[in-house]
Amino acid sequence: MAAVGETILEVRDLNKSFYGVAANEQVNFDLRAGEVHGLLGENGAGKSTLCSVLAGLYRPDSGEISLDGQRVSLRSPHEAAEHGIGMVYQHFRLVPSLTVAENLVLGLKGQGVRLTLRAVETRVAEIAEEYGLSVHPSAYIWQLSVGEQQRVEILKQLYRGARILILDEPTAVLAPQECEKLFEVVRHMADQDHSVVLVSHKMEEILGHTDRVTVLRGGRNAGTVPTEDATASQLATMMIGAEHMPEAGQHEPRRIDDAEPVLTVTDLHVTGDRGTPAVNGASLEVCRGQIVGIAGVAGNGQREFQEALAGLRPATSGSVRLGDRDITAASPRRRSQVGLAYVPEDRLGTGLASGLTIEENLVLKSYREPPHSRFGVLSSSAIAATARTLVERFDVRGARRQMAVSLMSGGNLQRAILARELTRSHDVLLAASPTRGLDVAATAAVRGHIRAETDDGRGVLLFSEDLAEITELSDLILVMSRGRIVGSYTPETLDVEELGLLMTGAKDHGAHQDGGRAA
Ligand SMILES: Nc1ncnc2c1ncn2[C@@H]1O[C@H](COP(=O)(O)OP(=O)(O)OP(=O)(O)O)[C@@H](O)[C@H]1O
Ligand SMILES: [Mg+2]
Repeated sequence: MAAVGETILEVRDLNKSFYGVAANEQVNFDLRAGEVHGLLGENGAGKSTLCSVLAGLYRPDSGEISLDGQRVSLRSPHEAAEHGIGMVYQHFRLVPSLTVAENLVLGLKGQGVRLTLRAVETRVAEIAEEYGLSVHPSAYIWQLSVGEQQRVEILKQLYRGARILILDEPTAVLAPQECEKLFEVVRHMADQDHSVVLVSHKMEEILGHTDRVTVLRGGRNAGTVPTEDATASQLATMMIGAEHMPEAGQHEPRRIDDAEPVLTVTDLHVTGDRGTPAVNGASLEVCRGQIVGIAGVAGNGQREFQEALAGLRPATSGSVRLGDRDITAASPRRRSQVGLAYVPEDRLGTGLASGLTIEENLVLKSYREPPHSRFGVLSSSAIAATARTLVERFDVRGARRQMAVSLMSGGNLQRAILARELTRSHDVLLAASPTRGLDVAATAAVRGHIRAETDDGRGVLLFSEDLAEITELSDLILVMSRGRIVGSYTPETLDVEELGLLMTGAKDHGAHQDGGRAA
């Protein structure tokens, strides 16, 4: 193993394009033993592409990769793994129908080691314990929240003995407390002479947790600097060029005293995948012109709550009303028709149909309506025109007409969903982690779109594990823990420390049933 500080991985003049569009152009990158190397860049800058080349998933068009001074070709993730390179992707690659332990041994067959599942589970539990990555080895993947699934992905790489770990936007799916734990894991790995490539849009993560940072812009190198010499504004300028950083809008809470409720949830109970209660009597009210934010650590019933509101999961008791219409048992399609827009957490699964093109996805919910369809006949020109308008208005980049959306970058997927959902007529927007994985400019744009919702008298129910997002946008902040609303704040009464304690369950007020307008 290379001594700490020595270059172990070197990339020279890497080129990779897709359908004639350069995702990486003459990219140079080097990684040292024992360092955490940040990779920063806007949506579509080519970060995931570079990572995927290093992980053996994509073959470069040209360029050289050396490990410990030796040229290598990484023709498959398997070969990369043999060289000790492991990657946790933006979109997880776990098999939902298998357990954690089964997922970890997948692909390890044929290495001359016969592993019993029991032995794997024991080892997994050890690594999990050592790195503070709590997951149950015998739980099924489909039962896990996004945050938990990520832990499994990291565990998988650790289990396989990766010495270079590439994390593609790992904190995008994590709650603040979980991020801190992740960074402990990352630092721990670096201390053991592992090298970590950390992709992030979040300046404070890059500044606080990396040793060096490489910035990509438009698929090219914008520079590599030691983190201790870097400032946020310098990095932002490298990232977006001469353009200005978008201002974080100052949020003034709107008066909602006599506003009419558009979404009313009363004593909702929802059962989770494991058959155990996930939502235990949640009540809340969203009024016209109001943004209600739900803060909470992943795995506390938020996903099941969202799914029940979207009609993807039945409620066991309680009711959901949209205006004065009871939609407790309505189908997702019906909810959409009567005015519920939904931006889900799981973009490629629930949000978009991954095999369809961007055009098809953009009209997915309106293709049966004029002008896209008249008297049962689809108009491809009307569909294309709508798609073009949406792509432009929401600045969806990297989309080509006949390309499946599964090939688009993470940030652009989110813009596509927002484009579709926000342009349909609706009274309530249900949004889950809407800026997860978006860069600074895109985040500002999405938050602007969400704020604009309320100007038109719509109500927004916002789920996010990003506390800064919740506090920046919400007129009312509810805290969810163990399937209940355990706290409620207005921007004036907000006590972030207490909120953090409530979120983590370190403090429990008992069920807070007055989830409606703030007192
Ligand atoms: N498999 C693919 N097929 C076609 N185009 C692709 C593919 N992967 C990436 N691209 C395109 O290459 C460009 C770079 O994408 P990449 O995913 O590397 O960006 P990124 O910096 O990771 O962005 P984000 O922050 O949004 O995840 C984008 O224009 C993207 O649409
Ligand atoms: Mg990416």
